Amino acid sequence: MLLIPVRVDRSPVHGLGVFAVDRIPAGTQVWKFTPGFDLALDREMLDGQPAHFRRVMLHYGYIDPALNRFILCCDDYRFVNHSDTPNVRIDKRADPYGVDVAARDIEAGEELTLDYGVVEGFRPDRTGEEDASSRAGRMRIVEAEPADTDVVLRVERLAFARDEEPQLVAELLRDSTAQPSLSLLAYAAEQPVGHVLFTKAIIEGNARNVAAAILAPLAVVPDAQRQGVGRALIERGASVLAASGVRLLFVLGDPAYYTRCGFVPATPYGLHAPYTVVPEEAWMVRALAPNMLGNVNGTLAVAASLARPEYWRE
Ligand SMILES: CC(C)(COP(=O)(O)OP(=O)(O)OC[C@H]1O[C@@H](n2cnc3c(N)ncnc32)[C@H](O)[C@@H]1OP(=O)(O)O)[C@@H](O)C(=O)NCCC(=O)NCCS
Repeated sequence: MLLIPVRVDRSPVHGLGVFAVDRIPAGTQVWKFTPGFDLALDREMLDGQPAHFRRVMLHYGYIDPALNRFILCCDDYRFVNHSDTPNVRIDKRADPYGVDVAARDIEAGEELTLDYGVVEGFRPDRTGEEDASSRAGRMRIVEAEPADTDVVLRVERLAFARDEEPQLVAELLRDSTAQPSLSLLAYAAEQPVGHVLFTKAIIEGNARNVAAAILAPLAVVPDAQRQGVGRALIERGASVLAASGVRLLFVLGDPAYYTRCGFVPATPYGLHAPYTVVPEEAWMVRALAPNMLGNVNGTLAVAASLARPEYWRE
């Protein structure tokens, strides 16, 4: 909840912005998460909401990576814009949800900015004081555009240290049978550090009309691994896909990793991979809507470029 008077007006940064009514001395608390007023939802709670609710949450909210919660500021503070040189910073020492404070004196009429817009995750706090509670600072996740393909392929090559995955991604991005797809890039300190690609899949069986997608591949560059980048990419992807109606998300990968990110073995639920997978536990699913697992079954059909037997050996 905002702790200072502000007005919302057209912003030179983007759309609407939040402007100080009075002068705000450095260190003043400007916003504090207030239970009962602001929202903090976990993934299951968000997935259970109507599509409009999820859209608003995803547009105006952000993911707190330390809490693994979607946060929505329920007053005008949701219009705060991003800046690389912000005048407001998040202080997590006093409160796990964070208290936002003026990083310097802010003049009356000046726009309040934070080091995030679609920010979630991490980027080092560049306002002077360290955010000790975050493992890796702040991160920005964006949907990759066709112009970002070189960046995407570079991240894939760095993460996997071979050509197979970059080639697969390049093919999938051109493959009409993979559409709709969702390609997300993660940036930390303005550097691309992670990429994930989700492509269309069809469940052949009694669930033909249940929208599905498959995650392949997920890539985090070596220097940024084990800092929550992979998880943040999966969470952002799951939210966007759920909001667009996808009900089941599949992955073939290391169960030790993906079971930490909401996936469970798929075969026991009668949801089969296009080819026999060994070990069976490497074939996993994550429900993006309630009452999915156990109620639908079938065999997944994936995009043509992904449907080659060599991609189905773990
Ligand atoms: C595998 C990979 C995507 C993980 O991404 P990441 O950003 O390093 O992982 P995160 O920091 O989000 O990890 C989330 C959790 O999984 C754990 N974890 C990370 N890598 C793990 C692994 N290889 N095995 C088991 N657990 C792992 C983390 O410790 C963290 O645990 P926590 O829940 O206790 O916090 C990344 O290491 C990578 O790109 N590796 C090379 C390419 C690759 O193998 N991709 C996967 C192909 S499908």
